[in-house]
Amino acid sequence: MSQFAVTFLLATVLLQTSISAASQSMEHCCAALSASIGLNKVLFPNTTLYDESATSYFAQQEGELSPYCYVKPTSSSDVSIIAKTLFQLNSDPIPVCPFAVRGGGHHTVIGIANIHDGITIDLGNINQTILNSDKTIASVGSGARWGSVYSTLVPEGLAVLGGRESGIGVAGFTTGGGISYFGARYGFGCDLVSNFEIVLANGSISNANARDNPDLFTALKGGSNNFGIVTRFDLKTFELGQYFGGSIYYLGSESPQLIDAFAAFTSNLNFDDRAGLLLSIIYTASEGFITACTFSYTEAIENPPLFVNFTSAIPSLLSETSVSNLSYFADELGGANTPDNLRQTSITATVKPVVSLLQQIYLLWNTTVPLISSAENLICSLTLQPLPVSFLNAGPLHGGNVLGLSSSGGPLVVLTLTVQYTSKSSDELIAWTTRELFRKIDALAKETASSNPWKYLNYADVTQDVIGSYGATNVQKLKAASASFDPTGFFQRVQPGGFKVRRPN
Ligand SMILES: Cc1cc2nc3c(=O)[nH]c(=O)nc-3n(C[C@H](O)[C@H](O)[C@H](O)COP(=O)(O)OP(=O)(O)OC[C@H]3O[C@@H](n4cnc5c(N)ncnc54)[C@H](O)[C@@H]3O)c2cc1C
Ligand SMILES: *[C@@H]1O[C@H](CO)[C@@H](O)[C@H](O)[C@H]1NC(C)=O
Ligand SMILES: *[C@@H]1O[C@H](CO)[C@@H](O)[C@H](O)[C@H]1NC(C)=O
Ligand SMILES: *[C@@H]1O[C@H](CO)[C@@H](O)[C@H](O)[C@H]1NC(C)=O
Ligand SMILES: *[C@@H]1O[C@H](CO)[C@@H](O)[C@H](O)[C@H]1NC(C)=O
Ligand SMILES: *[C@@H]1O[C@H](CO)[C@@H](O)[C@H](O)[C@H]1NC(C)=O
Ligand SMILES: *[C@@H]1O[C@H](CO)[C@@H](O)[C@H](O)[C@H]1NC(C)=O
Repeated sequence: MSQFAVTFLLATVLLQTSISAASQSMEHCCAALSASIGLNKVLFPNTTLYDESATSYFAQQEGELSPYCYVKPTSSSDVSIIAKTLFQLNSDPIPVCPFAVRGGGHHTVIGIANIHDGITIDLGNINQTILNSDKTIASVGSGARWGSVYSTLVPEGLAVLGGRESGIGVAGFTTGGGISYFGARYGFGCDLVSNFEIVLANGSISNANARDNPDLFTALKGGSNNFGIVTRFDLKTFELGQYFGGSIYYLGSESPQLIDAFAAFTSNLNFDDRAGLLLSIIYTASEGFITACTFSYTEAIENPPLFVNFTSAIPSLLSETSVSNLSYFADELGGANTPDNLRQTSITATVKPVVSLLQQIYLLWNTTVPLISSAENLICSLTLQPLPVSFLNAGPLHGGNVLGLSSSGGPLVVLTLTVQYTSKSSDELIAWTTRELFRKIDALAKETASSNPWKYLNYADVTQDVIGSYGATNVQKLKAASASFDPTGFFQRVQPGGFKVRRPN
């Protein structure tokens, strides 16, 4: 036998031994979890329930990762037991049972809320919404989706700062910031949290609010999965009846005029904080280039005059606006646009609402589309969202978050590219092309002194330094909170997915 063959054989044997050792220890991990929280809450491959978890991610690529088991707790004490069990099993410097935490499973970064050859804690069964007696606080289980929260609140004439589509998870949305229809008045979703119930690395079920653990409270407003597993969000409610909402669709060729209107709307010095807007410039394989605006105005009046530059000045293809309720609008958008389990990717930037810059960004986007139009069933959208001054001021007004935004430079625009398609063979091309587009957008914004470093966690690509974009002071706060609430760095070391606060061990 040649030297090469011997080496090869040895390597193969060693590899197989280490693979089977790894899978044995993983089986051991899943078995330990079954023993501690009950076999019925641990889902193994090739079962209907395991497949249900895997195929209900928004991004198919995320569901394709195969954890050794999904663990589905039904209470905070289950989560506490899981944390204690995993903490014990992972006492070695190299973790034997790495894990991921899933809320609604809507983030598009692969491995952010699922893990290949690890354990995924799927919070989906902790999904109740309970209104307190004076109806000022909705206590929401961390596996809930916004649609179920709204169906409890809307009949009461109430709302919270949640996602604009029913399927989005409460947990990822809120711990990453949260842009609702109502941000111009109240700020980010995290700004109206009154308390987080959270399971820490040592398994304790703790609370973080303005009085108890205030540093952790602030850190959780943007700090994502770095500190523990949130089990309940106590959200401040506000009154909301029927209001104006819905979308209007236009020809793709109207995009430049709509961008002008968008920039003027966003820069308005007297921004009416009852208003919300999204402008999406879209290419779909079936329809070609189109443009859509999604409106909200929290009064029960049709076509409020402040949208006149969108509603009557520009011819539309289709208008689906109405006066209705939050459940209706969240279901409409959810039903119309967003099936689960297709290939998805997303990337983001933040810029000033400078019209010439936005027009150039549009042209960059337009020249990018043909580069990826070979992807099957492509839908490629560039969405612009206003962050008016009142939106940016709301954070500090409600005790502060760690997002690092301020209104000192005037209003901002969050840009998000989302790409949906069905051909796995297009993954690399799409990832590369979208990153290249955003490299150009960032460069263009810098050249024209119209950039802002902030990268919105909930739309970010894995290559983007989200936590760093919060600024040095906030990074310091996050590191300090991690050091005091997770002294061994359990959530950094054993939970690889997500935007990490990197803290030296
Ligand atoms: C169709 C669609 C519409 C959207 N619309 C909006 C919108 O209107 N406004 C907006 O701001 N964003 C929107 N987003 C983005 C959305 O906010 C993010 O995808 C968000 O992360 C989803 O939360 P999730 O719980 O579903 O995510 P998941 O993918 O489950 O989790 C995201 C991250 O949060 C962490 N996490 C989950 N649960 C917990 C927990 N209990 N404790 C600690 N960490 C946890 C995960 O580990 C992961 O790192 C939209 C996304 C999609 C796909
Ligand atoms: C699941 O089933 C498939 C096909 O039936 C099989 O190839 C695979 O090994 C099974 N996986 C496990 C973990 O049992
Ligand atoms: C909560 O989850 C359970 C189990 O998945 C489901 O049957 C129930 O309908 C959900 N409840 C709400 C309010 O979404
Ligand atoms: C919300 O609006 C829809 C559509 O008009 C209606 O069917 C539904 O009953 C409304 N829900 C509530 C709670 O008012
Ligand atoms: C509509 O656009 C014009 C021209 O840009 C602007 O002067 C006007 O203020 C806009 N109207 C509203 C209601 O925003
Ligand atoms: C956008 O690209 C399409 C072809 O992909 C082209 O027909 C159209 O003219 C472009 N629009 C602009 C404004 O450049
Ligand atoms: C768990 O950790 C927190 C934060 O470090 C600490 O306050 C608490 O006392 C610890 N609880 C136990 C039971 O050790």
